[in-house]
Amino acid sequence: MFKNICDHVDDPIEAMFKRLSEDAHPDKIDLGIGVFRDDAGNVPVMRAVRQAEQQLFDQNQPKSYLSPLGNADYCADLEVLALGADHPVVKQGRIVSAQTPGAGSALRAGAEFVQKLSPGSVVWVSTPVWGHQVEFFEKAGLKIRSYRYYDKLNCSSDFAGMVEDLQQMQANDLLLLHGCCHNPTGHDLDLDQWNEIADLVIEKGVIPFVDVAYQGFGAGIEADVAGLKLFANRVPQMLLTVSSSKSFGIYRERAGLLSVILPADAKDIGSVRRSLRDTVRQLYFMAPNHGAAIVHEIMSTPELTTLWRDELDATRAHIIKMRSKLRKTIEAANPDFDASFLESQNGMFSCLPISDEEQLLMEREFHIYMLPNARVNVAAMNDAQSKTLADAFAYIRAQRLAETQQASA
Ligand SMILES: Cc1ncc(COP(=O)(O)O)c(C=O)c1O
Repeated sequence: MFKNICDHVDDPIEAMFKRLSEDAHPDKIDLGIGVFRDDAGNVPVMRAVRQAEQQLFDQNQPKSYLSPLGNADYCADLEVLALGADHPVVKQGRIVSAQTPGAGSALRAGAEFVQKLSPGSVVWVSTPVWGHQVEFFEKAGLKIRSYRYYDKLNCSSDFAGMVEDLQQMQANDLLLLHGCCHNPTGHDLDLDQWNEIADLVIEKGVIPFVDVAYQGFGAGIEADVAGLKLFANRVPQMLLTVSSSKSFGIYRERAGLLSVILPADAKDIGSVRRSLRDTVRQLYFMAPNHGAAIVHEIMSTPELTTLWRDELDATRAHIIKMRSKLRKTIEAANPDFDASFLESQNGMFSCLPISDEEQLLMEREFHIYMLPNARVNVAAMNDAQSKTLADAFAYIRAQRLAETQQASA
C-alpha cells in the first residue's frame, strides 16, 4: 500500500514552500505564509492573549473533553463578534455553531455537512481562489464551479463577470464568499454589491457559504463584517465559518467556528445541532480548547476586550501603512504603473499582475516567494523587502516589454 506514496506530488502551495526551504540565498523573501509580522519580522503574540493565558492558568481549569461541538462560550462570543448581539439571526436563535480546530477545519466540516445532506452539490468559488478551499470541498465530494471575481492582470474588480457567471447557479448550489479581506486578492464587495448578491441568492434559491478569516484586518472590526451582517439579514439560510487565527494572532492554537444559519421557520434546531455534532465527531472526534478558551477569556474580561481591540486596531494600522509604502515603492520603481489598487484593497493579501512564469522568474532571479496567483503578503514585508519586490516587478515588466517588442519586430 505505502509504495503508492512514492508518486505523491506536492500541491502548488506545498511545492512553493519546498522551493523556498531549498533556496540557500541569505536574503530570500517569504511573502507566502499568511501571518502578520511586525517591523522586526516577528509574528507577535498579543498582550491580551498572554494575559488571558495567565488568567486561565491561574484558574486551574480542567482538561477533560468538552464535546465535539467544542467550547460553547466561544461559539456565542464569535457569533456576536461576526453578526452583532442585536442581529436578528442571533436574537431569534437561528444559528447553530461548532467550535472547530481553526476555520480550515470549519470549511472541511462544513463541506462534509453539506455532502451528507446533499451529496455532490455544486460549490461556486471565486477566480482567483484560495486553493485550500477547493481542496476541502472536493475531498468531501462536492463539485466546484468558478465565477469571475477579480481581473488579476488589470488589478480590478470583475463584478459584472461575477454576476453574469452566477446567473448559472441552480437551486441548492452553494456560493462561497469571503466575508472580508478576500484571500488571495484583498478585493472586497461593497454594500451595494452584497445586496445585489443577496438578491441573486434569493432568486436562485442557492445557499451562501461565507468565510470570515480576517475580521479587523481591513477597515475595522465592525466595518469588516458590515456586508456580512446585511447579507445574513436578507438571505433565509447560510453557512458561516470564522477564523480566530489572525484576528487574535493564535494561529497554532486552532480556534475556528462553523455555523449553520437556519430559516426563520426552521422547526427542529435540535436535530441540526445533533447532525453538526455527529459530522465533526466523525471527522476529528473532539475540538481543542486552548485557543477557544483564550478568546472567551478576552471577550468576557472587559479590560482584555479593550486591550485586544486596541492591539487589533494597531495591527490593521500597520498593514494599511505597509500597503501605502508598497504602493509608493512600486510606483517609484515603475513610474508608468498605477499601484493604487494596493491601497484600496483590504487585509494581508494582494495579487501582483504577473503570470505564473513571471512569478517563477521572480523566485529564480530575486528569491522572492509568493503563493499561487502571485499572492503577496503585504503584512509580512519590511521596507527593504518591499524595495526588492518593486525592483523585481520593474525587471519583470521590462522583460515583458522587450519580449513583446521582439515578437512584433
Ligand atoms: C479565507 C481563509 N479561510 C480560512 C482560513 C483558515 O484559517 P485557520 O487558520 O483558522 O484554519 C484561511 C487561512 O489562511 C483563509 O485565508
